[in-house]
Amino acid sequence: MTRSLAVVTGAAGDIGRAIARRLAEGHDRVALLDIDAAAVSAAIDHLGGGDRFLPVVCDVTDEQSLAAMARVLAEAGQVKTLVNNAGAARAVSLHDTDASIWRQDLALNLEAAFLTFRALEEPLKESRGALVNIASVNGMAVFGHPAYSAAKAGLIHFTKLVAVEYGKFGIRANAVAPGTVRTQAWEARAAANPQVFEEVKRWYALRRIATADDVANAVHFLAGDQAAAITGVCLPVDCGLTAGQAELAHTFSQSDHY
Ligand SMILES: NC(=O)c1ccc[n+]([C@@H]2O[C@H](COP(=O)([O-])OP(=O)(O)OC[C@H]3O[C@@H](n4cnc5c(N)ncnc54)[C@H](O)[C@@H]3O)[C@@H](O)[C@H]2O)c1
Repeated sequence: MTRSLAVVTGAAGDIGRAIARRLAEGHDRVALLDIDAAAVSAAIDHLGGGDRFLPVVCDVTDEQSLAAMARVLAEAGQVKTLVNNAGAARAVSLHDTDASIWRQDLALNLEAAFLTFRALEEPLKESRGALVNIASVNGMAVFGHPAYSAAKAGLIHFTKLVAVEYGKFGIRANAVAPGTVRTQAWEARAAANPQVFEEVKRWYALRRIATADDVANAVHFLAGDQAAAITGVCLPVDCGLTAGQAELAHTFSQSDHY
């Protein structure tokens, strides 16, 4: 019998690795795609190695690299789930954003999701599979990192485009929008301000930030049969950040209950 495959891009990073671990429940194998060969083998070691996790070195912004990846995966099993998780932000403000940064951020955070989906669209049709795009609260409101944020907003819309056009093939497409998650992507900011994670908590309704496992749990739900009637949505995993801010509600209402 053909083995079912989950594919996670940017899987050597903290969130990608947590997603890969969680998707091993419900799939025979998980392919970990990353541009960084050393980091992806370290991630597989971290996950306990074995035949369950398949390392694939791939640049998701490069069509030839994606075509080679699709050929490798066709031999490895039947793609049932694709998680577009690779992403990064390069500039913090519009002032700091030049044309090259704008294009690179759109290429990695938006175009790559489109290219990866197209590269795996046939096996996803055959399996009536699921697509989960890792967006961000930055795609829903302004929190800095403009080019990244514009790309993530585009990714949320791309999710709906797939849901509507590919629903007839049984493919479901959903997005997850994490708030702050402590990963290597935050290293520079944590080095500049060791208190940064404490400082951000005040803006979150739950007074905490999400973990990589919180994100992975949402992805596992959206990819699985429990979400069989859910497509085209963006699920924030943000400890309430996009629901509103208690401090602002206090100022507006002058109520001490906030
Ligand atoms: N950490 C957060 O606070 C946060 C918040 C919201 C959304 N997200 C999103 O979650 C996802 C994962 O973030 P993270 O914090 O784990 O990041 P990370 O930097 O820890 O990991 C990203 C991974 O993507 C890989 N990658 C980069 N370019 C690639 C390419 N061209 N092809 C293939 N792989 C490539 C990197 O090598 C790295 O392993 C991203 O899409 C990010 O935007 C993160």
